[in-house]
Amino acid sequence: MDTRNGMELQKAVHKRRMVRHFTGEPVPAETVNKILELAQHAPSAGFSQGSAYVVVTDAGLKKKVAKLQGEEDYGAAGFHRWISEAPIAIVACVSEKLYHDRYNEPDKLNEEGKEIEWPTPYWYFDIGAGSLLVLLGAVDAELAAAFTGVFDVQGMKDLLGIPAHFHPVGVISIGHGAEDVKSPSLKRGRRKWADVVHYQKW
Ligand SMILES: Cc1cc2nc3c(=O)[nH]c(=O)nc-3n(C[C@H](O)[C@H](O)[C@H](O)COP(=O)(O)O)c2cc1C
Repeated sequence: MDTRNGMELQKAVHKRRMVRHFTGEPVPAETVNKILELAQHAPSAGFSQGSAYVVVTDAGLKKKVAKLQGEEDYGAAGFHRWISEAPIAIVACVSEKLYHDRYNEPDKLNEEGKEIEWPTPYWYFDIGAGSLLVLLGAVDAELAAAFTGVFDVQGMKDLLGIPAHFHPVGVISIGHGAEDVKSPSLKRGRRKWADVVHYQKW
C-alpha cells in the first residue's frame, strides 16, 4: 500500500485526539481496511499476533455495542451519542492464550524448558500498540476516532460471537469528526517533561 501521500507522523500524532461527535457521513469499507492494515503491522511479543478486530457497521448492531459501552450515560452527562453516531465501530480484542501457545514453542522456552515468567502481560501492550495505529490511521485518513474501554466483557463477547479466549478490550469509533464536548480529564493538562522523561538515571 502506498502511504506516501499520508499525513506525516508528527502531524498525525499531534492532531489525534479522542473525538466524541461524528457527522453522519459514511466511511468506505476500503478506508477501514487500509486503517486496519496498519494495525496488522503492529509489533507483538514473539510475533504472537494475538490481536483481532471486529468491524461493526450494521446500525442496529452498532446501537447494541453503544448500549453496552454505556452510551446512554454519556448522553445523560451531556456528551453526544458518538458510538452509534460514528459509521464504524471497531472492537479491539486480544487473546492471552495465543501468547501462551507461542511461548510454549521450542524457541521461546526458558532454560528449564518451561514457559517464561511474564514480566508484563505483553498481550495488553500489543493490543494497545495496534489500537494506537488504528487511532493514528484514522487521522491519516482525514477521519476522527475515539476509544472507549469495554467493561461488560462477557456481554460484548456474546453480542459479537467473540471466541472464548479473545478478550474485547475497547471500541474504537471512527467517522468524520464534528465539534465535540471536551472530556473533563483534559483539564489535568500534560505532565511536566521532567516528570515523564529521565536521562541516564531516574
Ligand atoms: C485505555 C484507555 C481507555 C479509555 N477509556 C475511555 C472511555 O471508556 N471513555 C472515554 O470517553 N474515553 C476513554 N479514553 C480516552 C481518554 O479519556 C483520552 O485519551 C484522554 O483524556 C486524553 O485525551 P486525548 O486522547 O484526546 O488526547 C480512554 C483512553 C485509553 C487510552
